[in-house]
Order: sequence, then structure tokens, then C-alpha cells
Amino acid sequence: MIVVTGATGNVGRELVRLLAAAGKAVTAVSRTPAALPGGVAHHRADLTDPATLAPALTGADALFLEVLPHAHEPEALVGFAKAAGVRRVVLLSSQGAGTRPGTYAQPVRYEDALRGSGLEWTILRPGGFDSNALAWAESIRGDLTAAAPFAGTGLPFIDPADIAEVAAAALREDGHTGRTYVLTGPAATTPRERAAALGAALGAPVHFTEQTRDEAHAEMLRFMPAEVAAGTLELIGAPTAAEQAVSPDVERVLGRPPRTFADWAARNTAAFR
Ligand SMILES: NC(=O)c1ccc[n+]([C@@H]2O[C@H](COP(=O)([O-])OP(=O)(O)OC[C@H]3O[C@@H](n4cnc5c(N)ncnc54)[C@H](OP(=O)(O)O)[C@@H]3O)[C@@H](O)[C@H]2O)c1
Repeated sequence: MIVVTGATGNVGRELVRLLAAAGKAVTAVSRTPAALPGGVAHHRADLTDPATLAPALTGADALFLEVLPHAHEPEALVGFAKAAGVRRVVLLSSQGAGTRPGTYAQPVRYEDALRGSGLEWTILRPGGFDSNALAWAESIRGDLTAAAPFAGTGLPFIDPADIAEVAAAALREDGHTGRTYVLTGPAATTPRERAAALGAALGAPVHFTEQTRDEAHAEMLRFMPAEVAAGTLELIGAPTAAEQAVSPDVERVLGRPPRTFADWAARNTAAFR
């Protein structure tokens, strides 16, 4: 049995679907139950209280673990997995753990806890997600507008469905143990280009406005803690060469190139109509 944390989110939802479709027994973990594929069990846990995850781990051989806001005890989470006899853990970390370890201290701590655990581990370090464009859902639904800072700075955002597919491979197949994969899309896109791609998918142009850094910071505080907002703005405003580079790892694992932002937009128009 495979336990999936973050099971109702952009990555976890698709991972649960893939594992269930492959005939695996899955326990989906989140704080709030949601519609799940037939046969998938749900376990309610709050990872800020690691003991609440423990009952789900009985009889599990693998765990997909996400670094979640305010869940600050990775050693305890990994310890419960080991005590329950879990053999393999796939961690959804962040590219920033490699490129900006000082800012991304929490993913670094999760990675360290896992590497020192004696368990079989695979670490996934994605860059920004295509699904971050869902922050525009309300304004695009309202009056076909989108606003973002650093309009012309490109980053190779990744489709969460590709992260899920790599995670499913690492959970199910041998050969990924001890690997750290950097996961990106196939090409850098700018916020202005992503808004245009959404317009193309919707068949109606989206009017794009460039925000100042301060405007963006104020808006991001609605979705994330202040230190995460500041770190994110640093990354999207002044990415390093490594953060702008396309990684070969999705294609290495899946044997096909990563999906484009336009592909994500075409599959997700319902959220913007
Ligand atoms: N977005 C990016 O650009 C980006 C880049 C790099 C890495 N990441 C990492 O990717 C992770 C997953 O992203 P996503 O887009 O799939 O997330 P998401 O759509 O926001 O989903 C988060 C999932 O975690 C669950 N959850 C949240 N807090 C929890 C808690 N305290 N205890 C138990 N479950 C909890 C949520 O369900 P409930 O709310 O019902 O509990 C939901 O199932 C992020 O947390 C981040 O660490 C994201």
C-alpha cells in the first residue's frame, strides 16, 4: 500500500489517480476529505501534528511526502514511517533547496531527515508550477485580466501532472533510490507569455498588467507566509542561471519531454471560465 500526503492538491490528486489506475492500493491523506477514485481510502491527518499521520502508515510499503507549510517536524514524520515498516519514501521538495538553501531551509531539513533515515529515498526538486496560474482564475473569470511582477522574466515552470508521473515512477519502480531529480517544464515562459497562452486556450485575449514588487508581495500574503512570499519574489525576480535552465530529468525518467504550459492551459480552461 502507498500513502500519499497532499493527496487532494495539484500534484497529489493526479498521483492518487495514476497509482489507483495502475491497480495499487492507495491511502490518500489530507486534512479535508475530497472526492477520490473508487477504492482509494482517505485518512484525515494534519502534518503539523506528525502523530496524526501514524495510523495511515500501518501496512504501507511506500510514502509520498510533501513539504507542507507549518509542518515543521520532518524527523518525526520520517520516524513514524520507519517505525511502521515503510521501505521507500519519495519527497516533494523544491528546486530552491538546491539553489537557495538559506531561503528554502524547510525543504532542506526534510531532505536531510530523509537522507539520514536509512530508508530508500528519492527527492523531487520541482521549479515553479504551471498551476500557479490559478492565482489568476478569479480575475480572468471576472474581466479577462491577469497581473504579475517581472513580466518578461522567463522560468521553465512545470506541469504538476508531470511531477505526479515522476513520483509514481519513483514509488513503483526500482532504479530511483538515492536520486535527486530537478523537475522543470520544456522551456522557459514569462508571466506575459503564460497569460497569452491562457487567452489562446480560452479563445479570448487576456489583458496582462505588470505589478510592482510591493503590489505582488501584498497579494501573495493572502496565499502564503511572509518569508515564503519574500523568497518566491527573489526567485521569480532574479532567477539564477540554474533556475532558468531546462532540466533533462523529466525526460530521463518518463522517456518523453515534459508537457508545455500551453498544454496545462488547454486542460484547465474550466477554472478560468
Ligand atoms: N507551487 C509551486 O510553484 C511549488 C514549487 C516547488 C515546490 N512546491 C511544493 O509542492 C507542494 C504541493 O503543491 P500543490 O500545488 O500540489 O499543493 P496544493 O494544491 O496547495 O495542495 C496541498 C495539499 O496538501 C494538503 N495539506 C495542506 N496542509 C496540510 C497539513 N497541514 N496537513 C495535511 N495535509 C495538508 C491539502 O489538503 P488539505 O488542505 O485538505 O489538508 C492538499 O491536499 C507545496 O506544498 C510545495 O511544498 C510548490
